[in-house]
Amino acid sequence: MSQKIFIKTFGCQMNEYDSNRIFDAVKKIGYEKTDIYENADCYLLNTCHIRDKAKEKVYHEIGRVKKKFRFKKKPLVIVAGCVAQAENQEMLNREPYIDLVIGPQSYHKINNTIINYIEHNKRIEETEFDADAKFDYLSKIKNVTSKVASFLTIQEGCDKFCNFCVVPFTRGPEYSRPYNQILDEAKYLADNGVREIILLGQNVNAYNNDGFKLSNLILDIEKLPEIKRVRYTTSHPKDMTEDLIEVYKSSKKLMPLVHLPVQSGSNKILTRMNRKHTIEEYLSIFYKLKKINSKIKFSSDFIVAYPGEDNEDFDNTLNLIKELRFVSSYSFIFSPRPGTVAENLNLIDKKIAVQRLEKIQNILFENQIQMNRSLENSVIDVLVENLTEDRTKTFGRSEYMTPVIFDGKKTDIGKIVRVRINQSNRNTLFGEAINVSNQKVA
Ligand code: SAM
Ligand code: SF4
Ligand code: F3S
Repeated sequence: MSQKIFIKTFGCQMNEYDSNRIFDAVKKIGYEKTDIYENADCYLLNTCHIRDKAKEKVYHEIGRVKKKFRFKKKPLVIVAGCVAQAENQEMLNREPYIDLVIGPQSYHKINNTIINYIEHNKRIEETEFDADAKFDYLSKIKNVTSKVASFLTIQEGCDKFCNFCVVPFTRGPEYSRPYNQILDEAKYLADNGVREIILLGQNVNAYNNDGFKLSNLILDIEKLPEIKRVRYTTSHPKDMTEDLIEVYKSSKKLMPLVHLPVQSGSNKILTRMNRKHTIEEYLSIFYKLKKINSKIKFSSDFIVAYPGEDNEDFDNTLNLIKELRFVSSYSFIFSPRPGTVAENLNLIDKKIAVQRLEKIQNILFENQIQMNRSLENSVIDVLVENLTEDRTKTFGRSEYMTPVIFDGKKTDIGKIVRVRINQSNRNTLFGEAINVSNQKVA
C-alpha cells in the first residue's frame, strides 16, 4: 500500500522549490501527495526562520497536528527547512512528537533517513552542509512540475552576513550548482510544459561556476525555444555586475522587472546593517538599467525600524521609494534574530515601528495601484498559467508578474496572449483577449 505525504511550506521561493524536490525524492520510496493533512502517513513541515517567532510557530504547528491525530495512527513527523537547520537536535529534545529533523543542505539523505526511521525507529537530525552531494543526488531525480512557470534553484547560501539576517547560518556558504546540471534541468522543464523559468538563489546574482555567471545562464536558457520568459530572484546590489546589466541589452526573454532589495534609503542604516553597498551605488544600477530599457521597473525589500533608524533615515527611505517608484515590494519591521549581530541591539519603540511600516506600505501600495491603473485600456502580453479556480476564466501574469484574469480558453495555457486591460485593483489586472479577428483594421 502506498503511503501519503502532506507537505506544508513556509518561507521563500527556495523553500517552495525544495518542497517540490523533496516530493520528487520521496515518490521513489512509495509516497503519494495528499492535500488533506488528516489523511497523511507522513507530515513534513518545511520551515522558515527569517522573522518573528519562527521557532515557536513550528512547535505550535506540531501541536495542532498532535491534536488532530490524537485518536488516529501517528504520522511520521519531519521538520525540514531553515528552523530545522538552526535548531537541529534541540527540536528532537523538546518535542518527542517530531521524528526527523532535516536541514536544507541534507535533502539528498531524506529517503535513507525515512527508511532508517521506519526500520529502526531512529529519531535523528541531519543538518550537515553538503550542497554538492544534495544537487548531485537531486539532479538524478527529475524535477516534475505541472506548472507553466517553474522555479529552478541555481545557487544556495550567502556569504554577505547582513547584521540582521539568519540566512548565512541556515543555508550555509554561497554555493553555485554546476552549469550543465542547471541547463539539463531547464531543458527537462521545457520539454515537460514549463514556459517560464524563475532562477532562484538567496544571492542568485552571485552565481559563478568556473567563471560561468548568471548572465551566461540567462542567455543559454533562453535558447530553448519552448521557454518564453526568464526571471531571476533574489539579487544583491553588490553582485549586480556589468555583464548582468549588459544582458538586458541582448536578452530576448529576460523580463523587465528587477527585484533588487535595498532594505533602507539611508547610507547610515545600510552601514549599520552591513549591506556592503551605498544608495549611490544602488541608484547607479537603477539608472544604468533604465537607460538600456526604459520599460524596466524595480521591486525591492525594505526593513523599517532597524535599530538606530531616526526620522531622517526613514524619510530617506520614503524619498527613495518616491524617486524610483518601486512596484510590488515587500516591507517588514526589523525582527531580531538569534545568532545575528543585530540580535541584541536596542529596538525602536513598537508604536513608531508600526507607524513607519504603515507609512511605507501606503506609498508602496499607492505606486502599485497607479501602475496597474496606468495599464487600463492598453494591450499587454500575458503568459497564461491556468484556469481560475471556478474555471470560468484564465489566469496569467504580465511581464511585471502582476496577476491577470481574462476570458481566455483552456488551450491558451502555456501561451502568450495579447490582453486588453479594462479594470484593475492593487494586485490584479482584468481584461479580455484580443483575437486577431477582433482587432480593428486601421
Ligand atoms: N538575499 C536577499 C537580499 O540580499 O536582500 C534577501 C533574502 S531574505 C530571505 C528576504 C528579505 O527578508 C530580506 O530582503 C529582508 O528584507 C527580510 N529580512 C531578513 N531578515 C530580516 C529581519 N531580521 N527582520 C526583518 N526582515 C528581515
Ligand atoms: Fe540575508 Fe543579507 Fe545574505 Fe540577503 S545578502 S540572504 S539579506 S545576509
Ligand atoms: Fe526563510 Fe530560509 Fe527562505 S529563513 S526566507 S526559508 S532561506
